[in-house]
Amino acid sequence: MGVGSTGEPVPNKVLRSGRLRSLAYALAVAAGSAREEIANRVRAWHHAEQQAVCDVLKPWAHGTILRATRYPNYFAYNLVRVERDPRMSLEELVSVADDALAGFAHRRIDIEDITAADALRAGFAAKRWRATRLLWMRHQAPLPAGPQVTVEQVSYDAVNALRVAWHHEEGPSGRHADEYHQQARDVALHRGVQVLAVRSAGEPVAFAQLARAGRQAEITEVYVDRRHRGAGLGTALTRAAIDAAGDVKDLWICADDEDRPKKLYARLGFRPAWTMMEFTLWP
Ligand SMILES: CC(C)(COP(=O)(O)OP(=O)(O)OC[C@H]1O[C@@H](n2cnc3c(N)ncnc32)[C@H](O)[C@@H]1OP(=O)(O)O)[C@@H](O)C(=O)NCCC(=O)NCCS
Repeated sequence: MGVGSTGEPVPNKVLRSGRLRSLAYALAVAAGSAREEIANRVRAWHHAEQQAVCDVLKPWAHGTILRATRYPNYFAYNLVRVERDPRMSLEELVSVADDALAGFAHRRIDIEDITAADALRAGFAAKRWRATRLLWMRHQAPLPAGPQVTVEQVSYDAVNALRVAWHHEEGPSGRHADEYHQQARDVALHRGVQVLAVRSAGEPVAFAQLARAGRQAEITEVYVDRRHRGAGLGTALTRAAIDAAGDVKDLWICADDEDRPKKLYARLGFRPAWTMMEFTLWP
């Protein structure tokens, strides 16, 4: 028998299960705050990366308006960033973007509070905005063994044909696309990215791209030519990029939360860190 807080006898079994419950609670709180810290770190990484490229950062009531005036076709750097639940209607938000991005061919709003984003999603879809639910992941489980595939480091331009093919699969085409590639090249070279590729018959058929800053790094791109998918190249390149990142504190990768690649990344040791949503209206 033990003694309870009011002095009455308490059976040891109950006391033990009470202690276990408080231990479980303390562990859950610690795990929750560790998760929150990781989410804050990836968000700070993402913001710092935007900040390094954008020349206009203007606070507004619910976040920041960002513009990179040298790169008007690079949607990811010309946007309204909504950093907390704006409690605004869709029309009000779109009107903020219309003002902030007047003169740009596109509109882009990133909502970092996923619950607020989910609530607005159907309305954006009705207006033909494209929504991408993005899952940021952190490498934190061991890399399993994988097949031997020759991966080599190449120049940024060595995989240009693959970049164009990828953009064609997903993005708007035409003049804006050509300008986008030029602007993306400028930004990537300025970031000092490392490009890894796999060749077939001498030509690159798949690539991954790694960016680093301080003790953090991000695998910013993984692409495999359509004809070579499902043969393990995406896995091999992601593995090689993890290796190339070396001993960093944080290694991030960002995936479409509603698509298959996140499973590939999870198999290689990436775990969910933070979810946000991008809304884009293409030219
Ligand atoms: C995502 C992407 C890079 C994957 O490349 P990949 O070479 O097909 O990847 P892998 O072959 O290593 O693995 C893909 C699938 O094939 C399977 N696979 C792996 N090796 C295989 C093999 N030898 N034979 C058959 N299937 C295989 C895997 O189980 C995996 O299944 P999953 O879809 O459930 O994850 C590729 O689909 C792509 O370029 N997509 C467009 C760009 C893109 O979305 N990039 C990711 C941005 S986050």
